[in-house]
Amino acid sequence: MQEKYYIVTYGCQMNVHESEKIAGILRGMGYTEAQGTEDADIIVFNTCCIRENAENHAFGNIGALKKLKKQKPHLLIAVGGCMTQEKGKTEVLRKKFPFIDIMFGALNLEELEGLIVRKKNQKKKVIEVREKEGEIVEFTGAYRTSYPNAWVNIMYGCNNFCSYCIVPYVRGRERSRKPEHILNEVRELVAEGYKEITLLGQNVNSYGSDGTTNVTFAELLDQVASIEGNFRLRFMTSHPKDFNEDIVKVMQKHRKICRLVHLPVQSGSNEILKAMNRRYTREKYLSEIEMLREYFPEAEVTTDIIVGFPGETEEQYLETEALVKEVDYASAFTFVYSPRSGTKAAEMENQIPEEVQKDRIMRLVELVNSLTRKKSEKYLGKTVEILCEDYDGKKDLYLGRDEFGRMGYFKSEKDRVGQFVQIKITKANGISLYGELIEAK
Ligand code: SAH
Ligand code: SF4
Ligand code: F3S
Repeated sequence: MQEKYYIVTYGCQMNVHESEKIAGILRGMGYTEAQGTEDADIIVFNTCCIRENAENHAFGNIGALKKLKKQKPHLLIAVGGCMTQEKGKTEVLRKKFPFIDIMFGALNLEELEGLIVRKKNQKKKVIEVREKEGEIVEFTGAYRTSYPNAWVNIMYGCNNFCSYCIVPYVRGRERSRKPEHILNEVRELVAEGYKEITLLGQNVNSYGSDGTTNVTFAELLDQVASIEGNFRLRFMTSHPKDFNEDIVKVMQKHRKICRLVHLPVQSGSNEILKAMNRRYTREKYLSEIEMLREYFPEAEVTTDIIVGFPGETEEQYLETEALVKEVDYASAFTFVYSPRSGTKAAEMENQIPEEVQKDRIMRLVELVNSLTRKKSEKYLGKTVEILCEDYDGKKDLYLGRDEFGRMGYFKSEKDRVGQFVQIKITKANGISLYGELIEAK
């Protein structure tokens, strides 16, 4: 009987795509996909450590497997991703969960096959976490599960060392893929019928600055967008310290590029931005938004915000609120600051009490939601283009996103997944839109 795998993913888009690579490796070894943990022969946890609750989540789920492992001794449990890259973490995991068979890191996931083979031949657990980033291993066997969307890494790692962030410690220094590798991958994806390509990197604007290539991010974007075919192009994440007009000019040249920019601001206070080591000011950030909207008045912006950073005063928090209103974000990911060991901010005095953090996050979420709702109302009666991504059996509706990432639902007799459709919006419900199908192409 064929053995089965089950992958549990935490964290960002980078990890989601890396789980597709892990699935590719496992399928290459002859495993097929399991329905859940119960019928799996190998369970892989692809972990995240960006905030404490991401870690707790993984801890809880790994711990819950103790019984299953006892009942099914041949079951392999593997833990990889960003958490195992943290200093001393494999030791903690080994003590807490002695039943883990394999540990690997985000920096050596391509070695997983060898590690599994090794484990099958020995009783001892296999712990192999690469400490320092190596050369990029070009990997073409990802098993993609997000049709019609496809993620394409353009770079790995981060050099920015924002004072709160653990990513540079667990993902290593910036490494860019060669333009030809990226272009070939996108060409293949488009030929296979993928309709939305998202270029991924912790800071896409610094593409190439590691010396791999002289091609800048704006040039790469131009080259990717010049690939023929009917597809949308997105990119993330842009860092405000080096987001620039060259990128926006390329967006203007190609209608394929969605006029939505994810530009994490983190805070609206210059003092806090400085303490965060973000290397831009509120004024610079706002001037970038202004520049973007001079080119495209309809452009939408999304962001990431942290509240309760060490020393954040009520006034500084209110500066964030004011900035949120001024930019008028389409949506925002909002987080409570979580101290990460080894980062500068974790050592700072004036850590903010939990109740203050909670109060701020609640107010901010309410503000962001109110902006999103207001934008929904503007959609009423309009016709928008949706890339159909899925079918919701419970609602008996197809769903997809518009250029700005808004979810739209509609009814159709025919399967529309992977098609661009025009829908006329008849109902706007908070963050979701509902409409009538007008035209498909
Ligand atoms: N490279 C991207 C995002 C990486 S992590 C960027 O620079 O914007 C995604 C988001 O998690 C960050 O934008 C930040 O808002 C949040 N984040 C990172 N570290 C955090 C921490 N210690 N506590 C709370 N949120 C954090
Ligand atoms: Fe973290 Fe800053 Fe790098 Fe983003 S840019 S991954 S927030 S260190
Ligand atoms: Fe992503 Fe979490 Fe790692 S946000 S880079 S999976 S720490």
